[in-house]
Amino acid sequence: MRLIIEDSPQSVARWTAEYIISRIRAKAQCSDAPFVLGLPTGSTPLETYCELVRRHKAGEVSFKNVITFNMDEYVGLPEEHPESYHSFMFRHFFDHVDIFPGNVHILNGNAPNLAKECADYEAAIVEAGGIDLFLGGVGEDGHIAFNEPFSSLSSRTRVKTLTPDTIAVNARFFGGDTAAVPARALTVGVGTILSAREVVILATGHKKARAVRHGVEGSYNHQWTISALQTHPSGIIVCDEAAADELRVATYRYFKSIENAGKP
Ligand code: GLP
Repeated sequence: MRLIIEDSPQSVARWTAEYIISRIRAKAQCSDAPFVLGLPTGSTPLETYCELVRRHKAGEVSFKNVITFNMDEYVGLPEEHPESYHSFMFRHFFDHVDIFPGNVHILNGNAPNLAKECADYEAAIVEAGGIDLFLGGVGEDGHIAFNEPFSSLSSRTRVKTLTPDTIAVNARFFGGDTAAVPARALTVGVGTILSAREVVILATGHKKARAVRHGVEGSYNHQWTISALQTHPSGIIVCDEAAADELRVATYRYFKSIENAGKP
């Protein structure tokens, strides 16, 4: 695993946008196949989306040959609801870049048959050639996508019931009303994320420090689903100083030193 510790959420966003752009360019140099990008919602990736939009407007990156798969979507929330992940993604990213709408994939939380929707999503990922890079955030309890604590670490896309903690944390997007937060979501599985050729997880702010500690120093276990990244051959956590607060000094120094030396 690589752990990139940046000074601030802004430098996390700059590092991440540059990394994504470099991966898109690298693939374009050796193949005509589209770059397949997995994407998250949440407040953490917002600055990365802003930075990608800025770099797109500056003519530095095109998304015309990019296919995206979002991580998750609430069940039963109308697509046009401002807090649906459909609305979020178009508002913060897709509406501002040159991606073809037909290349955007987001789970349909209102599908008549949710199990089929999930199976079709997995099949669509395979048909697209697999995900090149899955970008994600992490919950305060260490969940990635909506793979809540005690999710199977080999899970695939499915329906998940959200924990009271996640509902309480996400209530801020629903006027603070926990009853307004959908109780279930469709989410890619931990196994789906690990099947990507690269995984990049973002964590900013002190409230993510425990999740980062469990992801980096903790054991591989289903309570902290971020810990599954430890088994991925190309897993990266990008955090800011505040989210690194709970790491041991030796861990912090080690990751800082290898990145400073340019020899991960
Ligand atoms: C939700 C999303 C996750 C996200 C998490 C943290 O649970 N399903 O994908 O990582 O929230 O969100 P935030 O970045 O707002 O802290």
